[in-house]
Amino acid sequence: MTVAEIRRSLTTLLRDGAIDNAAFEADLLLCHELGWKRDRLFLNSEYSLSSHQAERLIALARRRANREPLAYVLGEWEFWGMPLAVGPGCLVPRPETEFLVEVALSCFEEGLFLDWGTGSGCIAAAIATERPSARGIAADVSSRALAFARQNLLRYGLIDRIALCCESDPLHLQLDDASLELIVSNPPYIPTGKLKGLMPEVSLYEPKEALDGGEDGLVAYRPLLRASSRFLRRGGFLVVEVGDKEQADALMEIGAGVLEFVDCMSDYGGIPRVCLWRKADL
Ligand SMILES: C[S@@+](CC[C@H](N)C(=O)[O-])C[C@H]1O[C@@H](n2cnc3c(N)ncnc32)[C@H](O)[C@@H]1O
Repeated sequence: MTVAEIRRSLTTLLRDGAIDNAAFEADLLLCHELGWKRDRLFLNSEYSLSSHQAERLIALARRRANREPLAYVLGEWEFWGMPLAVGPGCLVPRPETEFLVEVALSCFEEGLFLDWGTGSGCIAAAIATERPSARGIAADVSSRALAFARQNLLRYGLIDRIALCCESDPLHLQLDDASLELIVSNPPYIPTGKLKGLMPEVSLYEPKEALDGGEDGLVAYRPLLRASSRFLRRGGFLVVEVGDKEQADALMEIGAGVLEFVDCMSDYGGIPRVCLWRKADL
């Protein structure tokens, strides 16, 4: 089969699965299989694929047509310019989380940081790459997610500076009080009642523990605020991702009296996305 022929078959399979950008995703699958850039597909449309390659591509397209996330099908997704291994058990890094990283970097130069709920390790990897003298702890309750984080930190030579930790309560971390410069987190924040309404790629495939934020979506933030008050040094920052304005407003109330509220920043789509607190100097 030629590139042009398999491209047509993949596009049809994906369209039958109601995938929006079927032709584009067919190209991505082809690029993945052949190790090519997309423009090469157009310049080599008569190139012949082996029957093994064609079979593998059809199998990938079938998975995608069943609404498995494209990132899982490819086994890799880019975050902060770094291709990261992802798959079942680990949340696919989202573009809005790059905004969280930007804000975290704006208040962190060096020292020790904690990435709570690290998933693929995307946030820890981005921060450690940008801050070469920093050290970090990347914690998650999910051992499956931590296996992906380990793979990604190893790939980018960061494993010596980031300790991975399987833990469900940040207050149980074996840390000295006032030892952290920064706590950053993209915790699960979708209210339980809204999980079923998510697109199938998310509701059927991504791990529930990465999404479910309890009845009000805020369950994970409460222990995080308590832990921040204990583990941050004076002047250190807590930076978290939130889902919307309502959550941001509720969090400001929960955080009052625990830490000093600094700001809530909207992402490039205008949605309040990142809340920032500081442990007061006095
Ligand atoms: C929204 S995902 C974020 C993953 C990754 N940091 C990212 O931004 O793509 C939340 C992560 O928190 C983890 N998590 C959920 N509850 C937790 C808990 N009680 N303790 C530690 N990690 C938890 C999940 O396993 C998941 O990896």
